[in-house]
Amino acid sequence: MWTVPLTDIAMPEEDVEAVLECLRSGWLTMGPRTQAFEAAFADYVGAPHAIAVSSGTAALHLAMLAAGVGPGDEVVVPALSFVATAAAARYAGADPVFCDVLGPHDFNLDPDSVAEAITPRTRAVVAVHLMGYPADVGSLRKLCDDRGLRLIEDAAQAVGARVGDSRVGTIGDLGCFSFFSKKQLCVGEGGMVVTNDDELAASVRRLRSHAMTSVTWDRHRGYSETYDIVDIGFNFRLDEPRAALGLSRLTRLEGDIDARRRAVVRYRERLAGVDGLELAWDDDAVHAGSHFAFPVLLPDRESRDRFRSDFRDAGIQTTWYPAITQLTEYATARTGGTGVLRAESVAARHCALPLSSSTELTQVDLVTDAVSACVRGGAKTQSAGSTSTA
Ligand SMILES: Cc1ncc(COP(=O)(O)O)c(C=O)c1O
Repeated sequence: MWTVPLTDIAMPEEDVEAVLECLRSGWLTMGPRTQAFEAAFADYVGAPHAIAVSSGTAALHLAMLAAGVGPGDEVVVPALSFVATAAAARYAGADPVFCDVLGPHDFNLDPDSVAEAITPRTRAVVAVHLMGYPADVGSLRKLCDDRGLRLIEDAAQAVGARVGDSRVGTIGDLGCFSFFSKKQLCVGEGGMVVTNDDELAASVRRLRSHAMTSVTWDRHRGYSETYDIVDIGFNFRLDEPRAALGLSRLTRLEGDIDARRRAVVRYRERLAGVDGLELAWDDDAVHAGSHFAFPVLLPDRESRDRFRSDFRDAGIQTTWYPAITQLTEYATARTGGTGVLRAESVAARHCALPLSSSTELTQVDLVTDAVSACVRGGAKTQSAGSTSTA
């Protein structure tokens, strides 16, 4: 239906075979493949613990509980993110407090705005690595250490992105990932929590499966005769077919991220200097990022909406991400410091262009030609309009 879709999922035979092999084994609930996926993921990100869960949202929910977030607490979150970042604080009974982002050059949260949002009730800060670009977790780690707060990384959009020699997700107390189908490491639904802390890992592991003292796989192997329940837990387990798929796809993740980065570099080369269009982030961020999405900025909401509609007509799929504070459920939510104007302005002005690991450079060229034509056409329409009203 689309000439260039927003994302495309390649499913090579080895992935299909990994899932079929799992199905043929007859063991479907959390077991050896999940353990192997956790071990491989822990190794990939460089953390001692990785705990597989049913979604990125479940990962954030469990991270909040393990971090000790509870009723009466506040959690500082960026206004520009997917709603799950804020909802997770509410699942734990806490109030999200929204902070602002740096601006059109970097959509990630502003550490000064985080500092202004902290109150005596604050228990944790969530750093979101938006669109695959690493947030300034160095500053946030220091801020959280100074104030005695937990730092949770929402790396749902940023698996594989780097901060110096580390991977995102390993700098905070807990890092959360999503394997939703549009993500760089996609299995349909799934998530992972990583941590360097043995106690936090034990807590997430326990809560993931009803706070049971043994899991079915242990009982199947005769390691445990029975179980006890020691808390109010959840069923946030990942199942074996998804773990098998994740494990198979993880072996290609670095190559997939490189392919995404090649497309982004091409986009940036061809769009640099196009009048009326702004690019976010810089070359260092492009190098460090893992490229979930590629955004461009138009001058205002009206031109962005017109741009998207022209692209729809041309068969090129685009998207954009609203600020959480612009959603009905969060319209009266608390904002910290001087508010979230920059986040709401970025939300109104940006548009994400097609990007996946299988986006061809010829497709990038087709899209960038359409961008140039569309921006030129828009400018002409505008100047014609202003002449006629002058
Ligand atoms: C920033 C962010 N956080 C959390 C999530 C939730 O992940 P999931 O869809 O796997 O529950 C997403 C998913 O889109 C996300 O983009």
